[in-house]
Amino acid sequence: MNVYDATRMADLLGQEGYAETTNEAEADLVILNTCHIREKAAEKIYSELGKLALEKRAREVSGRDMKIVVAGCVAQAEGAEVLKRQRAVDLVVGPQSYHRLPDLLQRAREGGRLTDTDFAVEDKFDALPQPSRAQIRARGVSAFVTVQEGCDKFCSFCVVPYTRGAEVSRPVADIVAETRRLVEAGVAEVTLIGQNVNAYRGPDEKGAEWSLARLFEHLSEMRGLERLRYTTSHPVDMAQDLIEAHESIPKLMPYVHLPVQSGSDRILKAMNRKHKAEDFLDIVARLRKARPDMAMSSDFIVGFPGETDEDFEATMQLVRDVGFASSFSFKYSPRPGTPGAERDDQIGEEVMRERLAALQALLEEQRQSFNSATVGRTIDVLFEKQGRHEGQIGGKSPYMQAVHVSGSAEMIGRVAPVAIVAAGSNSLAGRLLGEGEEAKA
Ligand code: 5AD
Ligand code: SF4
Repeated sequence: MNVYDATRMADLLGQEGYAETTNEAEADLVILNTCHIREKAAEKIYSELGKLALEKRAREVSGRDMKIVVAGCVAQAEGAEVLKRQRAVDLVVGPQSYHRLPDLLQRAREGGRLTDTDFAVEDKFDALPQPSRAQIRARGVSAFVTVQEGCDKFCSFCVVPYTRGAEVSRPVADIVAETRRLVEAGVAEVTLIGQNVNAYRGPDEKGAEWSLARLFEHLSEMRGLERLRYTTSHPVDMAQDLIEAHESIPKLMPYVHLPVQSGSDRILKAMNRKHKAEDFLDIVARLRKARPDMAMSSDFIVGFPGETDEDFEATMQLVRDVGFASSFSFKYSPRPGTPGAERDDQIGEEVMRERLAALQALLEEQRQSFNSATVGRTIDVLFEKQGRHEGQIGGKSPYMQAVHVSGSAEMIGRVAPVAIVAAGSNSLAGRLLGEGEEAKA
């Protein structure tokens, strides 16, 4: 979602005459769009800011200015602290108020340091401009569309409900219009995003509430839109109509990112997850019934307070039972203001390190074997960009694997069958099938 927010900020500032650069040294304005989910991510900001402050000071000598903005969830959660710890920061803006950036920047230029971390009264999305065709094209053939923001779940380890606010769904018509605009400019794949995307309950023009499955059904009729995805889902919102959508909508890709966090019911309860390990396994079974080739991805936390060896083993067992195509796993990080951080049974660093290493070894083994299993098969690939080597193009399989083939740049934006010939550590190598060539399933 930070990627999506950053593109919307760029759209907005593009209208104000700013052009994007990847080189800080030539930037008049630097925005750090920050993450507060774990301490490591949040702390990184201060070291980045230290470097930017030096650049800013060096410029002041030559009379050139640089404005530094801290946006995102660190801004939301500890804006005052950011301003205190780093004098060079001009503006702090939260994830629900970045549509006011032009006005805030104007005020910052007039003098004074500012903070805007209100959960907006007006709708941020209404205030944001749509990107131009050129902007959309420059960003490639796969795009994100936010359909839902915020979280009401309050998992006991997580800051998101405090930084992003309550669950809100965007109206159907707005999502359809934004998607259509992307597709008309050449986008072939849209990923609907939200902190709890499958909790989507957006109103249509008559005020009726649509589920995510209904939204997919509607979007799947859009010509030129080849692939649909969604992230991130919560197990308790994994409704049967969404599971069935994987059977009835071929454009809906057979890859679901569904965080489970732990395989121990005791820890899941302490995490306030409101589901058991068995519920997760049941969802996976139903998804695989709807789409036998369904690939699963998940998030895991090791070392939540009170986690025993037995609890951890339950997580390992769940991983063995499911078989994941890909995953993210983290050491528990106590976050300010969350109930988990208050507990007096925190797990030591050494234990967390060992558990994470064991879990990641297993997950990595599963990822490699998932990739190897595609060798010899023919898979549809959406081509996204030119490869690193001359005459090479790269794209994604339905299961989010990177695939490289020899082929012409004209294929970019198109889906074509590819015979997979080898699996590397991070991507697959394949051969584009010629016309009339038989595909092997
Ligand atoms: N410590 C470690 N990992 C966390 N996550 C969220 N909060 C924490 C925390 N305090 C992980 C969860 C979530 C992912 C986005 O980040 O696994 O699904
Ligand atoms: Fe955080 Fe996700 Fe739990 Fe919400 S559902 S509190 S975003 S981990």
